[in-house]
Amino acid sequence: MQRYKDPEAKDKMNPFAEQEAWEEHQIGKSKLQFGSKDRKRSSDDYQYVFEDSIDFVKSSVIEGTQPEGDSDQEDIDAKDILKRELQDERKTLPIYKFRDELLKAVEEYQVIVIVGETGSGKTTQIPQYLHEAGYTAKGKVACTQPRRVAAMSVAARVSQEMGVKLGHEVGYSIRFEDCTSEKTIIKYMTDGMLLREFLGEPDLASYSVVMVDEAHERTLSTDILFGLVKDISRFRPDLKLLISSATLDAEKFSDYFDSAPIFKIPGRRYPVEIHYTKAPEADYIDAAIVTVLQIHVTQPPGDILVFLTGQEEIETLQAKIFEPTPEGARKVVLATNIAETSLTIDGIKYVIDPGFCKIKSYNPRTGMESLLINPISKASANQRAGRSGRTGPGKCFRLYTSYNYMHDLEDNTVPEIQRTNLANVVLTLKSLGIHDLVNFDFMDPPPSEALLKALEQLFALSALNSRGELTKTGRRMAEFPLDPMLSKMIVASEKYKCSDEVISIASMLSIGNSIFYRPKDKQVHADNARLNFHTGNVGDHIALLNVYNSWKETDYSTQWCYENYIQVRSMKRARDIRDQLEGLMERVEIEICSNASDLDAIKKAITSGFFHHSARLQRDGTYKTVKNPQTVHIHPSSGLAEIRPRWVVYHELVLTTKEFMRQVTELKPEWLVEIAPHYYQLKDVDDSGTKKLPKGQGRAAL
Ligand code: CDP
Ligand code: MG
Repeated sequence: MQRYKDPEAKDKMNPFAEQEAWEEHQIGKSKLQFGSKDRKRSSDDYQYVFEDSIDFVKSSVIEGTQPEGDSDQEDIDAKDILKRELQDERKTLPIYKFRDELLKAVEEYQVIVIVGETGSGKTTQIPQYLHEAGYTAKGKVACTQPRRVAAMSVAARVSQEMGVKLGHEVGYSIRFEDCTSEKTIIKYMTDGMLLREFLGEPDLASYSVVMVDEAHERTLSTDILFGLVKDISRFRPDLKLLISSATLDAEKFSDYFDSAPIFKIPGRRYPVEIHYTKAPEADYIDAAIVTVLQIHVTQPPGDILVFLTGQEEIETLQAKIFEPTPEGARKVVLATNIAETSLTIDGIKYVIDPGFCKIKSYNPRTGMESLLINPISKASANQRAGRSGRTGPGKCFRLYTSYNYMHDLEDNTVPEIQRTNLANVVLTLKSLGIHDLVNFDFMDPPPSEALLKALEQLFALSALNSRGELTKTGRRMAEFPLDPMLSKMIVASEKYKCSDEVISIASMLSIGNSIFYRPKDKQVHADNARLNFHTGNVGDHIALLNVYNSWKETDYSTQWCYENYIQVRSMKRARDIRDQLEGLMERVEIEICSNASDLDAIKKAITSGFFHHSARLQRDGTYKTVKNPQTVHIHPSSGLAEIRPRWVVYHELVLTTKEFMRQVTELKPEWLVEIAPHYYQLKDVDDSGTKKLPKGQGRAAL
């Protein structure tokens, strides 16, 4: 192991108190500022173009896809050996000892709450046990995951354990990607996908067991699933429900499911030593780097897991950390919250927890949603610490003080349902025939203001009528697994005869901001290539369309992507999404027709979905959103950043150092009144200048 030559340097690097020095610190001096958005950033805004991935892990663990080609004997032998080894490994998991007891409980009770430490085998083993016990003869076993990556990787693992090809007996289903077949009996899926299955099969008749896994995460879809599965379990006594959670706080689940029994799988967690910093850290990324190096030079072998908030942070830290490559390699895994409970990474002995994660928050008053970096909860902090003690005693380095832990962290994360835009879920529930949302059996009800806002938004989008009932437009919109604004944009493209263009734009918007890349040494070239698609200041939506169409013209060439600094993987994904949207268009009976020369028609279709997102240029060069006035800016990556049209419609707001509008297109103010007369009146779009709207005016009546 490498030693530092200068002993003082080592001390300077140590940001930690010794065990006995868990001293409390004057919070007044804290630079960490839990809850503050102005954390010191090490890079400029422009680089945040890439920052929108919530689930991200830099590690080979997630690449676990099924090996292809089992044609020759050698492969079959190798597979058999692997399968046998995996079968032995299965028996070493903590859950194995409880297999029979668990199956007996499932037989006896309709609903069971299962609690067990992460890594004990809940996700990979329980569906297999159910299969072995014959449940799959009566119907599929569904196992829901809040995260796409988890659904995919766990399905890959289980198909390996069972020695079958991924997508056959064991498959997964995530948005825009269905890796299942007629044969599939164990289906891992995101909670959102199971929610959508209710649309086609309201009693889930093809399933014998539904396992709502990672229930403690309390995602919006999981919370809605709770209500739906509880409801169908009443008239489907044969359907088994398993609610599984990694936290010990299972009473709440049990209470909700009419006092369902709690099945505890005793963990085998080794002791974890917790270290806090003496003083708050001004920059937790820097602190994390120092800590990694510190562990590397002072601690016995063992891998390190660092929790960060997103891809951008992971890329930053990864780039920095490998600059002076230390001797004596040690694996460092950088992951977002996904490694907290959804994925188990073996060999971790040290955990570095900066104490932050990205969290969606929603302001029902303004209807604005943003992804903010926030302090984690105590429950999360403890889960993170636990990741280090799975295979032996571990250590967790918290980059905050014990005072912060005790006084600044909430006990639990607020469930997503209480901090998100509910329009999507309301649309889904309405299309399931659930009208009385106020009396829906929520485990924790959403704020009534947020429900009302969702109803208003859907009314303004013409998805609901004034009695709150689903309209034809609403029914069509519900077919698309997209945000209602995007679905509306697509449905509206029929009227403007530009569905071909609009579904390309929707696909491009759906892949997020990973289309263009910008290598450090070729920034000028990359920027020029990008600007080519903006010729004529067409706006970002049309520019995305130009990218897609140009790529299509080259017959989907990879070389072309390289030449234009475009991520080929993102483009392939856009093409996949587009294919699926095309299929859905057929289902809602909207013809695909092209109107490429009429850019106004395309922009009107966009505005039909996104009229809530309109903004007007101010004298000082900033923008103000038209309804619920708020100061916003055009994101520097936009083709219109320098042009600054008077009126714009934007795809989304992102908060980094300021509120930025991302994906911006110019619009004519009269379109707002033409397209959304129940939302905008003439005075809203009066261009003469300074008049302000009285508060609350313009709300759609419901
Ligand atoms: O769900 P729970 O956290 O209780 O455990 P699990 O995900 O079923 O993991 C059980 C074991 O399978 C762990 O030791 C993991 O290392 C292993 N596993 C894996 O190797 N690859 C995966 N994709 C998932 C799990
Ligand atoms: Mg699990």
